[in-house]
Amino acid sequence: MVKNTPAMGWNSWNTFGLDINEEVVLKTAENMVKSGLKDVGYEYVVVDDCWSLKERDKDGKLVADPEKFPHGMKWLSDKIHAMGLKFGMYSCAGVVTCAGYPSSYEHEFVDAQTFADWGVDYLKYDFCFHSSHLSPSLLYKRMNAAIMATGRDILFSACSWGEEGTHEWVHESGADSYRSTCDIWDNWVSIKDIFQSQLDKQQYNYKGCFNDMDMLVVGMRGKGFVARGLGGCTDTEYFTHFALWCMYASPLMLGNDVNNMDDETLKIVTNKDLIRINQDKRCCQPFLINHRDNSHPELQKEMPIIAKYLDDGKIAIMICNFTEGTTNRWNSWFLTESVGVPESSGKTLKMRDIMTNEETVVTNGLFTTPVETHGVKVFIAEIIDK
Ligand code: GAL
Repeated sequence: MVKNTPAMGWNSWNTFGLDINEEVVLKTAENMVKSGLKDVGYEYVVVDDCWSLKERDKDGKLVADPEKFPHGMKWLSDKIHAMGLKFGMYSCAGVVTCAGYPSSYEHEFVDAQTFADWGVDYLKYDFCFHSSHLSPSLLYKRMNAAIMATGRDILFSACSWGEEGTHEWVHESGADSYRSTCDIWDNWVSIKDIFQSQLDKQQYNYKGCFNDMDMLVVGMRGKGFVARGLGGCTDTEYFTHFALWCMYASPLMLGNDVNNMDDETLKIVTNKDLIRINQDKRCCQPFLINHRDNSHPELQKEMPIIAKYLDDGKIAIMICNFTEGTTNRWNSWFLTESVGVPESSGKTLKMRDIMTNEETVVTNGLFTTPVETHGVKVFIAEIIDK
């Protein structure tokens, strides 16, 4: 399916892992509507691994586990559609899924048709236990062709964790997004590692085939499958995580327990300015604007300043502090120059802080602002006359 902005929704894996069922999914969908998540754009409700029986039926079709999903997937899909949401499911390019359930290798066409018959709108397609005889690209092409043959509009979300040079072959395989990273965990180290791993992948992030930095852990607070007793994150870190995924045009798939969501989490994941940056239709690549000469690679990783042109003529600018220790002050001497607004233009930038709405006009190209440890500040900048 051609979707020109990153997908938004919820996926069962991060919180529920192997322990997924109809009641949880349905209640999540209901709460996505009630809490206002749907209103800001979250639309896909995705059931991840562990939803099926261990055996196919006599016709070779996948069967939903009747204990976990007593009414079956078509029923669930109808319920989700009736709420104005979309339904997503999971399979894998290997012989079994990562958790050991039947997978779609050599069953691509029958499985794609099963998903289409169930009214599936989104397919996450994993990479565990895949054939070593066929190229990864061909494995994904097979499922893409199988989806096309159904005639149903199904968003194809590839999940090969950025392995085997995914960024080089995935665009030709028909995927609408591709996992460009390993799995996320609910702690700061994981979030920072994932961000840093994207610095040399960003040029592969295309409109219609977005780099997927994995499902969000915002609001998990150390509880759930990928929390693994790692302690979770602070509110500052969850905000930074969400803001980075938005700047980098990653799909925004919530992974927290939406049925038990606290106010701060809701506030972060419904931030209208950040979602607007994520969903920007121009899909320009974000770029690093400090330390441009590459003489300080560590600073790019630890204290990046990132900019992204938006389709309304404004510029999103994000100033990050990923270092340890106390609050730092930041200087960006070349801010205006670095986003293409030289002194000679007679123009400068008016910066609106998205959290406080405070506006600052940049003078002499210099902009200074404090940013707390593991935190970010995000501004929407407008080009104005000096
Ligand atoms: C992993 C994938 C996770 C989740 C899991 C299910 O490969 O990256 O997001 O889908 O498999 O077993």
